[in-house]
Amino acid sequence: VGTQARYRYMELAEQLLGRIEDGTFRVGDRLPSVRELKQQTGFSTATVCRALEEVERRGLAEARPRSGYFVLARSKPYFEVPMVSRRVQKPRPATVHALTESMVRGTGQTRLVPFGGAALSPELVPAVQLTRIAREVLAADSRVLFRYSEPAGLMELRRELAKRMLAARVDCSPEQIVVSAGCMDAIRLCLTAVCGPGDVVAVETPTFFGFLQLARDMRMSIIELPTDPTTGLDLDALERSLNRYPIKALLVTPSFQNPTGALMPEQNRRRLAALAGKHELAVIESDVYGELPFNGQRQPPVAAYDEQGWVMYCSSLSKSLAAGLRVGWTAPGRFLEPVRHLKLSTSICSPSFNQLVIREFLQSGGFDRHLRRLRGSLMRNMSATLDAMRRHLPAEIRVSDPRGGFLLWAELPATVKSDALYHAAKDAGVSVLPGAICASNRRFDSAIRINCGYRWNERMENGMRSLGQLCSRLSAAAREGS
Ligand SMILES: Cc1ncc(COP(=O)(O)O)c(C=O)c1O
Repeated sequence: VGTQARYRYMELAEQLLGRIEDGTFRVGDRLPSVRELKQQTGFSTATVCRALEEVERRGLAEARPRSGYFVLARSKPYFEVPMVSRRVQKPRPATVHALTESMVRGTGQTRLVPFGGAALSPELVPAVQLTRIAREVLAADSRVLFRYSEPAGLMELRRELAKRMLAARVDCSPEQIVVSAGCMDAIRLCLTAVCGPGDVVAVETPTFFGFLQLARDMRMSIIELPTDPTTGLDLDALERSLNRYPIKALLVTPSFQNPTGALMPEQNRRRLAALAGKHELAVIESDVYGELPFNGQRQPPVAAYDEQGWVMYCSSLSKSLAAGLRVGWTAPGRFLEPVRHLKLSTSICSPSFNQLVIREFLQSGGFDRHLRRLRGSLMRNMSATLDAMRRHLPAEIRVSDPRGGFLLWAELPATVKSDALYHAAKDAGVSVLPGAICASNRRFDSAIRINCGYRWNERMENGMRSLGQLCSRLSAAAREGS
């Protein structure tokens, strides 16, 4: 009976998945209820429930209390994924695109439709709870405002962070963690600990523009490695480059990469950890989006496979909770001592009050509850964004198909230059991130990154419509000019 029941639930699950794939059930639709499915199939409640749970497990539907299961995603994407060039360029001094500064300054401008920044909408974060915790922390002991914390961070917080890392299968003790002011601070500490001016650092291409700024400010050379919008960094290209050039460090975001949303498969994570050991390469891993897989199944970071301490794990709560508190951390492996020392010599310690608020929130269990809701919201936002892109952008665009996080990467027709689109969109009240700033070569001049951290509404719809109109206008102008 057990085996038969197993087949029956899979059979029903496959049928439901098939109807999601062929569009009978669309994103946002309610699937038939348990009662309806029982009537239609004659199966037991347990079998029907397991079938629905299977659809949920695959990330295509979610259960809402007392309302049933709702479709969350298509199993077939609308768009083709952007292509990857496998060519690796030689290391060269890091440069930053002229638009980068203006883009960064513009972040947070609320008058623009927010497709540009990599930020969550304030309505997606538990503001009431965080405010209550902040008051309680102050009421319990206001001396937290006046005291330095240990340079490596408050031990109470590091204990909570070590628990989270253990849940992600990274074995590290609180003593091996250094608290930072956001992830960027952690990354700068790690990079400074392992290299200096003139050294070669590898980055993904396209990459987070902040990494390019950092490398430029530290007067380093960079080598830009091909990165697949679905599977992330090309490890063959990394290995070839390691054999040819003296690469000291790699800056990499294996989970829901900025800007593509790529997720590095598990076997690649293992291989990257092994390559790091073999080539004595410091791998600086940013895991800021790691907690945001739509199906709730978190991939262990590369640090989980690292046996020799070459992986320097960096993260923060900026992308999953509250960017403004600036709480991040690193577990820098074999470079713990230099990183601790640098933290002390650059900023003494991170703000104690902010550390305590985060510590209380983590300890209360509120973070996991919040993450469950957030992942569902982000998935719906991304799906709505893709729907709108299909309505308004040119049909031939290529778009990444992330399984988590909140960033989409789109390659527009070659006639649309992202810097021109950026300026025109800004004039029209829409912010968008030009792909040109995500690399120092010109490979991504016609790509854009779209933020899905905001709930879809009419304003966003109008913003996407404007982007579509501007794409057509810029395309027509380019054709006339040529
Ligand atoms: C991959 C990546 N790492 C680090 C950061 C910086 O995070 P934080 O705000 O915690 O400094 C960002 C922000 O966009 C990011 O995309």
